[in-house]
Amino acid sequence: MKLLVLLLAAFAAAERVRYDGYEVKRVFPKESDDLRHLAELRHDNRLDFWTEVQKPYTDIMVPPQMVEELEGRLRELGLPFMTIIRDVQKLSDEQKVAEPNEDGTPRAMDWTSYHRLVDIHGYMDQLAEDYPDMVTVMSIGSSYEDRDMKLIKVSTGSATQKMWIDGGIHAREWIAPAVVTYILRELVENYEENRDVVDLYDWYLLPLHNPDGYEYSHTNARLWRKTRSRWSGSCVGVDPNRNWDYHWMEQGASSDPCSEIYAGPEPFSEPETRSAADFIMAENADESFVGFFTVHSYGQYWLCPWGYDYIYPDDYDDLEDAGMTGVNALEDVHGTQFTFGPSAIVLYAAAGGSDDWAKGVGNIKYSYTLELRDTGFWGFELPASQIVPTGQETWEGIKAFARYFQ
Ligand code: ARG
Ligand code: ZN
Repeated sequence: MKLLVLLLAAFAAAERVRYDGYEVKRVFPKESDDLRHLAELRHDNRLDFWTEVQKPYTDIMVPPQMVEELEGRLRELGLPFMTIIRDVQKLSDEQKVAEPNEDGTPRAMDWTSYHRLVDIHGYMDQLAEDYPDMVTVMSIGSSYEDRDMKLIKVSTGSATQKMWIDGGIHAREWIAPAVVTYILRELVENYEENRDVVDLYDWYLLPLHNPDGYEYSHTNARLWRKTRSRWSGSCVGVDPNRNWDYHWMEQGASSDPCSEIYAGPEPFSEPETRSAADFIMAENADESFVGFFTVHSYGQYWLCPWGYDYIYPDDYDDLEDAGMTGVNALEDVHGTQFTFGPSAIVLYAAAGGSDDWAKGVGNIKYSYTLELRDTGFWGFELPASQIVPTGQETWEGIKAFARYFQ
């Protein structure tokens, strides 16, 4: 069955989705009624929510043939809105992507363009080869389409505590894997400059948490978010950040396979989430993980649990103190401002996220979701020229957090 599905997928692979005339509307919900109305609108799968249903703004991509209908509906509901992007395809066309080598070999990484999986995995292997005393690369499992879940461990041998950083769990958030590999370079190739903090921890980095989705967002549909698993005849993919087994499906997640926030047929239905969870459980048996970062875009938020409900964790003060150290250090680099808080309270409740699981089940006290640049001018189409500055500020934020415990 799975083989047949994969064969069919290979035949369908030629088709590339275009976004000509697709607009992004920014809606400004004020009261909880407004949020409720937007949450209802989300059931319409012709719309693609670029942000969660959230205050102060919610961004929605709308196909050209539906623009009028949506505008009418928003007016009816008394929801103020503006158009922030007029042609998504045009922005997509301007994205600088490192064209893959024809023979399938990795191209050297740079941080001036967005790279394909083969380059990112190749870079990890290269580091393992060049720095065998410091770097270990392993596969912690396979994706639905049988790609490696490649994880890299950076350790100088002196640390007793660990730090986790993943990126790309949502396929279209290209800045996330780019920044995680930027951090990897800082840890390994720039070790001398960062050694005081590198030495403090064993660093576990998973730059491509959703390898199938990431590739698909390059080859077929730039704005693909989910995994590529098939649980129904009608639609493909599960939202991997609704699939974790902690208060699964309680709020802000969907049981509709065609929804962008489909939580899956059951918790950990996705090999990508299950293998990461299993790995963390095993590695954290001795509670050696101090920090858990899952990197997303966009919005510029440093979020902590809980995401599943409108409540503060008991130890919120600790999470805020450490987190704000990061937020302030991040801002000092280029003036980029992040908002700190529990994700349900700051944004909107969404259960089944990895951050909640890491804290609630995985026992990692300091668990955060980072929503990187920007605040919607480019959204997911953040120009590659912003990879380096985004990497710099994020790394400074995480470093300050890491030093906070010294
Ligand atoms: N934009 C992220 C998502 O939708 C936010 C996740 C925040 N964490 C949470 N548990 N809701 O996945
Ligand atoms: Zn995301």
